[in-house]
Amino acid sequence: MPPKNRFAELLPEITAWRRDFHEHPELLFDVHRTAARVAELCRSFGCDEVVEGIGRTGVVAVIKGRSDSKGRVVGLRADMDALPIREQTGVPYASKTPGKMHACGHDGHTAMLLGAAKYLAETRNFDGSVVCIFQPAEEGGGGGREMVKDGMLSRWNVQEVYGMHNMPGIPVGHFAIRPGAMMAAADQFEIVVTGKGGHAAKPHDCVDTTVVSAHIIVALQTIASRNVDPLKQIVVSVCTVETDSTAHNVIPQVVKMKGTVRTMDAKVQDFVEARIGQIVEGTALALGARAEVHYQRGYPVTVNAPENTAFAAEVARRVSGHVDTATAPLMGAEDFSFMLNERPGAYIFLGNGDTAMVHHPAYNFDDSAIPFGSSWYAEMAETRMPAA
Ligand code: NI
Repeated sequence: MPPKNRFAELLPEITAWRRDFHEHPELLFDVHRTAARVAELCRSFGCDEVVEGIGRTGVVAVIKGRSDSKGRVVGLRADMDALPIREQTGVPYASKTPGKMHACGHDGHTAMLLGAAKYLAETRNFDGSVVCIFQPAEEGGGGGREMVKDGMLSRWNVQEVYGMHNMPGIPVGHFAIRPGAMMAAADQFEIVVTGKGGHAAKPHDCVDTTVVSAHIIVALQTIASRNVDPLKQIVVSVCTVETDSTAHNVIPQVVKMKGTVRTMDAKVQDFVEARIGQIVEGTALALGARAEVHYQRGYPVTVNAPENTAFAAEVARRVSGHVDTATAPLMGAEDFSFMLNERPGAYIFLGNGDTAMVHHPAYNFDDSAIPFGSSWYAEMAETRMPAA
């Protein structure tokens, strides 16, 4: 079955919504214009309930099917926020706000779910309810977590949840998914090394925090190479090193480092957190300095439930004929994971063709993917809850 014909008819309208969002990017929870437009459109479609302000600026739109014999509820989720990037696409509908850009295609996700909502509200060819979830702050703010904390899943009795993300490098209209861990957990750490600053020509009178920090950075590499099973995925990266000296002849008193940890497995995550503490404190002690680690857990692993994954893949196959069911997991993170931690469901990639990668200033969502994405959302609901 190809994409639904209705989405070929709706393509100009959905594309216009997408380009309007693209021109007006908003960051994190500050998606007021986007959320208001989403709510306005959902009301114009005749959705049965449209509620704003869930998880601060999220929007929920409920569409009831022709019947409700089993009380089934399927959640479909899209993200609405943009990134602090200066756009370099040159498209006529480029960002009107310098330094803000839809560089991850969330404009496309929101528009595709709106298209599905319009179709589902028109046809209502299912038995149960669809809950369309438009979330803020996917890019680091935990908007998905805030919507879950706000009781969104229990308030509307959502039983399963499905999310989609476009992916450059996969042909337009092709899908990719895998059961189990699909995206990584992303944690962050800050290390503060304190020694004894002083004249750079008198190192013997100092405790040199730059040398201690260099040893710590090298020793942290042994977590991935020597401590964790090579068959498990892990990243430990030190990304900033900052001292309290700006002079070429002063040994700094304090060095601060920041970095990220990516893991796919809770046991590995626990181990790495503990091991960073041991390495940092032990290395500093051996070299006569003091060091402390502030470790902060971020988005958890995005885990696709096997049965829901097989179902999502089957619907993708019907929509496009092309689905990779064993795609490699990515070490990026996704806060849809907070919803998948509460309800079974799945997260799927939709091809964006041969474009710049997401988060690049030249990235752009490919509008020709819209019929595939909207069809997938709509068919997930219709196929999961067949009309009685
Ligand atoms: Ni994204």
